[in-house]
Amino acid sequence: MLTPTPTRLLLLAASTLSTLVTSALAGSYARTEHIAGAGFYNAFEFQAIGDPTHGRVNYVDQATAQRANLTFASSSPDKFVLRADATTVLSDAGGVGRSSVRIRSRNTYTTHVAVFDVAHMPQGCGTWPAIWETDEASWPRGGEVDIVEGVNDDGANAVTLHTAPGCTMPAQRTETGTPGQLSCDTALNGNAGCGVRLASSSPASYGPAFNAAGGGWYALERTDSFINVWFWPRNGAVPADVRAGGGSVDTAGWGVPAANFPNTSCDIPRFFSAHNIIINLTFCGDWAGQQGLYAGAGCPSTCITDDRTGYVDANPAAFRNAYFEFNAINIYK
Ligand SMILES: *[C@@H]1O[C@H](CO)[C@@H](O)[C@H](O)[C@H]1NC(C)=O
Ligand SMILES: *[C@@H]1O[C@H](CO)[C@@H](O)[C@H](O)[C@H]1NC(C)=O
Ligand SMILES: *[C@@H]1O[C@H](CO)[C@@H](O)[C@H](O)[C@H]1NC(C)=O
Repeated sequence: MLTPTPTRLLLLAASTLSTLVTSALAGSYARTEHIAGAGFYNAFEFQAIGDPTHGRVNYVDQATAQRANLTFASSSPDKFVLRADATTVLSDAGGVGRSSVRIRSRNTYTTHVAVFDVAHMPQGCGTWPAIWETDEASWPRGGEVDIVEGVNDDGANAVTLHTAPGCTMPAQRTETGTPGQLSCDTALNGNAGCGVRLASSSPASYGPAFNAAGGGWYALERTDSFINVWFWPRNGAVPADVRAGGGSVDTAGWGVPAANFPNTSCDIPRFFSAHNIIINLTFCGDWAGQQGLYAGAGCPSTCITDDRTGYVDANPAAFRNAYFEFNAINIYK
């Protein structure tokens, strides 16, 4: 049995105090996962599935991806790469598309902070990369948060929520990005969702400009009363705790978010269930493949064609830079 010596009482008092201090500072979080290098293979599973958004993509399993070097991990420094096939001219008329990868975290998350330290994101005409969180088994009831998403190298990142009917965002919010549709309802306007468009330059939030700047950090904070997303470019004024990727972060020091989704008229715990993190790279499909958008982004010919003369099928070398490179993903709770 433990007798309460003065030292133990002191330790008890100190730990009670630190619990009180921690819960008073809503913005401070302790790291629960550091995912880096080959650690991605433990934290994520590869999903060799069909693309629900009709992309020209062949998602391969982990063994196939490793054999073809579509995924690669190294240490000192930690790197984790996910890429699309950039050597095969597609000629199989019955085939589904260019080989690529889609990974999903084994763990699920409700309230949390996730910091994505991204050195490179996929670029190229026809590409549609995404870093996002959802509960696939209960979509759209369980909601979806798109943290990084865009198509055809077109300008700026879009941060978007997709939900069941009944979740809307106020027009006026404290955020640096530009809000689009205010209803998050997947049933409206072809599942446009309630999106916030980030800057395309200063800072470069997406595609070739993001990569030229060495990438940067995307961070998500999900609480019961709001969802925030921040972005800092590699050489910008990034908060020290984000850059360090250490044992704790305090979001109260992170400044105005790029995208803010308050619970003013959206009960967050009701519309968002426990989510997996998903990272995927598809081609063309429901968004990137819309000819108006594809051509409007200055992309050549057509994204896909039935006879396999479309850009994605015929031009493997155009996808040399269609890869994600992560330094780390850190999760805090
Ligand atoms: C890829 O990511 C986007 C998320 O923005 C999603 O809508 C789409 O369904 C994903 N594709 C696949 C095959 O998961
Ligand atoms: C696999 O990809 C990595 C990362 O891009 C690269 O450094 C490595 O040389 C590649 N390995 C082979 C065998 O091509
Ligand atoms: C917003 O969040 C706060 C704090 O969790 C809660 O008290 C309030 O009821 C929420 N409002 C709505 C509309 O969900």
